[in-house]
Amino acid sequence: MVSAPLKSKLIPSLPEEPPLPLRPEVEALGVSGIQQVWEMGFQKPDVIGLWVGEGDVPTPSFISDAAIASLRAGNTYYTHKRGIPPLREALAQYHARLLGIAPDPERISVTSSGMAALTLIFQAVVAQGDEVILVSPIWPNAAAAVQIAGGRPVEVSLDSQADGSFELDIDKLTAAIGPRTRALFIASPGNPTGWMMEQEQQREILALARERGLWLIADEVYHRFTYDRPWAPSFASIAEPEDALICVHSFSKAWAMTGWRLGWLLHPPSMGETFGKLIEYSSSGAQHFLQDGAVAAIRDGEAFVTELVERCREGGDIVFDALSDCPRVRIARPKAAFYAFFGVEGMTDSLTFAKQLVLEAGVGLAPGAAFGAGGEGFLRLCFASSPQRIAQAMERLRPALL
Ligand SMILES: Cc1ncc(COP(=O)(O)O)c(C=O)c1O
Repeated sequence: MVSAPLKSKLIPSLPEEPPLPLRPEVEALGVSGIQQVWEMGFQKPDVIGLWVGEGDVPTPSFISDAAIASLRAGNTYYTHKRGIPPLREALAQYHARLLGIAPDPERISVTSSGMAALTLIFQAVVAQGDEVILVSPIWPNAAAAVQIAGGRPVEVSLDSQADGSFELDIDKLTAAIGPRTRALFIASPGNPTGWMMEQEQQREILALARERGLWLIADEVYHRFTYDRPWAPSFASIAEPEDALICVHSFSKAWAMTGWRLGWLLHPPSMGETFGKLIEYSSSGAQHFLQDGAVAAIRDGEAFVTELVERCREGGDIVFDALSDCPRVRIARPKAAFYAFFGVEGMTDSLTFAKQLVLEAGVGLAPGAAFGAGGEGFLRLCFASSPQRIAQAMERLRPALL
């Protein structure tokens, strides 16, 4: 038997408070509602978890093999802070092909994930007390990154339509701009809503940002997940290189590389040195061998991306077909990203409801309230899984929503 003193040495009880006060912005950080539901259900083997934003497909071997070969070849040293030249070159060509622009590789900085890219941007542009307007419902990490940088997130919610879709009211966005506003943050295609901004509206927003002297931060990590066109409209294709526009990208979604933690930024050429310094003083650069895998993803990945997006389209259709005739559910056929964000009539506490679904239906969804203003009353379902898994989840979910 283990005696009490020995046991306490082996498993020290965790102190509940840090030894000294932390920065107030950090103390104020909340626990994500998605995390709360996930923690309840992730160890239950029979739960179908559709709560987080990733699929069930591992990284394809042509990408992994390139990284393994690079590792074996000894690429284990410090490397270029803003990304190895072949990757920056490949990304410049990728943008040229998709957007019809020809960005100098100087405009590209490779980051250790899309999340890290957001952190670097807010470090660069937000001063203490500055406001960043975020179009919500929004991935909560973006608002948290603003807060950690000392800024104040201000949410402007999309308007939910009777047919289950969402729309941005530019007048509402304009009205939220105040003397402390420094930046507009827009994720299109959006997480959690799947809303996608048309190029015409992007022109209006770009003009607004220019007129009011605001940074425009465009999160385009879901740009390949579109179901009515080959890829999503991008602010980059209508802006000048020296516009105050920074686009955030990630390898996570389109190339099934969530665990690799690799992303990139498309920014004005004059910001290369700034991002070089911020990367140097944070991660000091992404791993060389992982970047060699990313080169393979960009160079040889088109067939894979097409297949993955088609699979997601199938998943989205299954969800729409299963839920659209539930009288309590308001859902639109997904147009972009890989989420269904649907309203449930009579549901006033989405966190409690999502927890009940885990226990009673065996399906894990994310509560809409976790995505800020305009999110309560909704649930987010990630359909980037096999059609069989999605169909099984729908069989369980439908009775709980009827
Ligand atoms: C809208 C949005 N932006 C950025 C990211 C960051 O992706 P990652 O950090 O995996 O590159 C995510 C991840 O879910 C996201 O949903």
